[in-house]
Amino acid sequence: MVNITDKFGRPLQDLRISVTDRCNFRCTYCMPREIFGPDYAFLPKEQLLSNDEITRLATAFVELGVNKIRLTGGEPLLRRDLPQLIEQLNGIDGLEDIALTTNASLLPVKAETIKNAGLKRINVSLDALDNETFQAINDSGVSTERVLKGIDEALKVGLHVKVNMVVKKGMNEQEIIPMSKFFKEKGVTLRFIEFMDVGTTNGWDFSKVVTKKEILDNITKHFDVEPVDPDYLGEVAKRYRYKGTDTEVGFITSVSESFCSTCTRARIAADGKLYTCLFASSGYDLKDLVRSETDDGKIKETIASIWGKRTDRYSDERTEQTAKNKKKIEMSYIGG
Ligand code: GTP
Ligand code: 5AD
Ligand code: SF4
Ligand code: SF4
Repeated sequence: MVNITDKFGRPLQDLRISVTDRCNFRCTYCMPREIFGPDYAFLPKEQLLSNDEITRLATAFVELGVNKIRLTGGEPLLRRDLPQLIEQLNGIDGLEDIALTTNASLLPVKAETIKNAGLKRINVSLDALDNETFQAINDSGVSTERVLKGIDEALKVGLHVKVNMVVKKGMNEQEIIPMSKFFKEKGVTLRFIEFMDVGTTNGWDFSKVVTKKEILDNITKHFDVEPVDPDYLGEVAKRYRYKGTDTEVGFITSVSESFCSTCTRARIAADGKLYTCLFASSGYDLKDLVRSETDDGKIKETIASIWGKRTDRYSDERTEQTAKNKKKIEMSYIGG
């Protein structure tokens, strides 16, 4: 195995793979229904990477230093052959961690299958406990009860679960304490995510961001928490623990405390394009390469050369102007 680094000395360690651009939710901050309506052109199946193609690329990435792969979407559980993909990825030598980010609505029926395929952990997106608030956000009629049932099913089959809550001003700040209480009692880690300007359709501006500081100030009025040291360099979430318990609460602070200097993540979008930043304007096509190239060495060379030129640090440089005017790919397509 070789370890490659980018222009700022950052190694390539994590790979996030979006396995579909489709989702059964229409979260207002991610896939607003006005844009992702009935006429929206999702990718046709032949433009998605197949399981064999994903596995071939993933193997090349692991040989270049990646030890952690996260499957995302859209909603990854909508992909029918996802369990087979998990099994295939599990067979890659040197890959230490495979995880999945999901909205949990299909977990009541799929948790056991993905666990049996070899998955160990999932991150569930849930932005409110109050059903009316949650349904206003996901705009698809799925209830909190369904998501909580999905979480319980996942815990029951032995998956490790964390919960992600995007906090946006005027949308769900009132849910911060109820969510904290509920998941503290359940012993499940909850992570608050600052609302980000991903893509160009989610109506972001600074005034809608609720920062880590604001959330933490609110939390410490109700609970005693203490900081927890990061597990590894470049960990995305800033972690805290409820004193006297093993239960953690975390913050993903892309806006108020960016973490680009330790960013080791590459992303493959649903159509097989490689992006070296969540906020990139364009990607590098790996689909044609994996479909035409028979030599694995050439694939590795291409990836290494792209990573070697990487200078991305979008969140460090974000301004109201870049947030509005920079061309960026949509969240549902790059997978967060
Ligand atoms: P763990 O391995 O469980 O810590 O997962 P994770 O936090 O890396 O992944 P998850 O899919 O749960 O992402 C949580 C949030 O962090 C999402 O909103 C992601 O978009 C955001 N995120 C993850 N990586 C990056 C990154 O490199 N840059 C930015 N700006 N946000 C990121
Ligand atoms: N800002 C912050 N987080 C977002 N997510 C989706 N869109 C945004 C945004 N604009 C979250 C999802 C999921 C994770 C992959 O990214 O809720 O938890
Ligand atoms: Fe919501 Fe995630 Fe679907 Fe986006 S991909 S609409 S955040 S559930
Ligand atoms: Fe990495 Fe780009 Fe996120 Fe910075 S903004 S942490 S470079 S993905």
